[in-house]
Amino acid sequence: MLDHGAAPPATEPPSAPKTSVLSALVRRKPVEALVAEGGHGEGGTLRRSLSMWQLTMISIGATLGTGIFVVLGDAVPQAGPAVTLAFVIAGLTALFSALSYAELAGSIPVAGSSYSYAYATMGEFVAWVCGWCLVLEYGVSVAAVAVGWGEYLNELLDGTIGVTIPDVLSSAPGEGGLFNLPALIVVLLAMVFLLGGAKESARANTIMVIVKIAALVLFCAIGFMGFKSGNYSDFMPLGTAGVSAAAASLFFSYIGFDAASTAGEEAKNPQRDLPRAIMLSLVIVTGLYVLVAAVAVGAWNWKDFEGSEATLAAIMNSVTGQSFWGTLLAAGAVISIASVVLTVLYGQTRVLFAMSRDGLVPKVFGKVHRKSGAPRVNTIIVSLFCGILAAAFPLGELVNATSIGTLFAFALVNVAVIVLRRTRPDMPRTFRVPVGWLFPILGFAFCVYNMFSLGPITWVVFGGWMAVGLVFYFSYGMRRSRLATAEK
Ligand code: ALA
Repeated sequence: MLDHGAAPPATEPPSAPKTSVLSALVRRKPVEALVAEGGHGEGGTLRRSLSMWQLTMISIGATLGTGIFVVLGDAVPQAGPAVTLAFVIAGLTALFSALSYAELAGSIPVAGSSYSYAYATMGEFVAWVCGWCLVLEYGVSVAAVAVGWGEYLNELLDGTIGVTIPDVLSSAPGEGGLFNLPALIVVLLAMVFLLGGAKESARANTIMVIVKIAALVLFCAIGFMGFKSGNYSDFMPLGTAGVSAAAASLFFSYIGFDAASTAGEEAKNPQRDLPRAIMLSLVIVTGLYVLVAAVAVGAWNWKDFEGSEATLAAIMNSVTGQSFWGTLLAAGAVISIASVVLTVLYGQTRVLFAMSRDGLVPKVFGKVHRKSGAPRVNTIIVSLFCGILAAAFPLGELVNATSIGTLFAFALVNVAVIVLRRTRPDMPRTFRVPVGWLFPILGFAFCVYNMFSLGPITWVVFGGWMAVGLVFYFSYGMRRSRLATAEK
């Protein structure tokens, strides 16, 4: 069934080449069709097993990780103590977009998340672009996060058995190594959990999330003992430019709150629980970020962050004068960051699952294993892709590529809210973004502003990525789309 809001009139000959390309680009998938297909894959269905608590844990699991444990250390030299402000600015971008996600996830609770919202509102081409950006958000961020995991693993090994994995095996080629073995290992471990199914993965994730929150609370308690108010005397040493550059990098730390929205087809009560899980996770995560950042820059002078690795563990060591606490934090971080890899990898497989059901990527991504109810082949392919990326690229490059792709996808989600309010004003919504269009417009503006704060190299990477995506769409997706087959 096609949405005739955008599809060509029935009388128009489908063979007219110009019209058919244009109509392909704007053909939309009706909300009802998206929801009705929920759970169905090739040869099996996903299982509805996730509670509101588990969904919240999935979003926190996907969000809280490398950003606070690693990227904070790179952001402080840019913003100084005003890194706390940078967290708030990045959090605002996330907040407005989270509201939009909550509205759409409550009304279109499907695995494709923003890709599917775009398909229902702006048509197939924008949906493809969005889905392709989600590969940056999820797939590439798994790789970035896995690289950060390696740093803390070395810190932990050093603190416990006094050895570290040598650079040649723990750094990407661009950073003087051969490849990053720990990064590859953590991705493969996550893959093993995911092959067992969503319920088992969610259970493991919940335990890991509890550990990571405990680790950060412990950091705040100990870091606070070393708090020196003098460290705040030069609050914004590099001015507002430094703060906005730091906010753009720190946006990475908020990526993932939308992960619950990819579980729309495995949630027990998606309409009710998805909006709640998204908002709740964002509130918890933002509170923790600001607190941890405030304690960190109170305990260390901002200049001391330059070049630091496993920064939070190093702060704990210097405040207590004992390596035990830093090692304990490193253990917490190793577990925490692994949960980001697990949940973000989960999100990536579900987005590709939805895209495959629509025919835009090969069918193999939509195959569901009968016994586990998991898209197993999809999980293996995605894990290998992310693992290789993690082993071969340095963290910084991956972080910024992830951020720009995510910001683009979030910008589209804000537009989708406005479009759906206009095209389907009466559709049932379990959550509505308050104050009309104001917040989605602000969300869009913040996303675009943050995108322009990212450097030229990131834009070049993004441009290259989109070019590859366009080639794929025009040579494969546009022809194989289920909507194209339905038109014939
Ligand atoms: N927000 C996630 C992290 O910081 C990607 O690790």
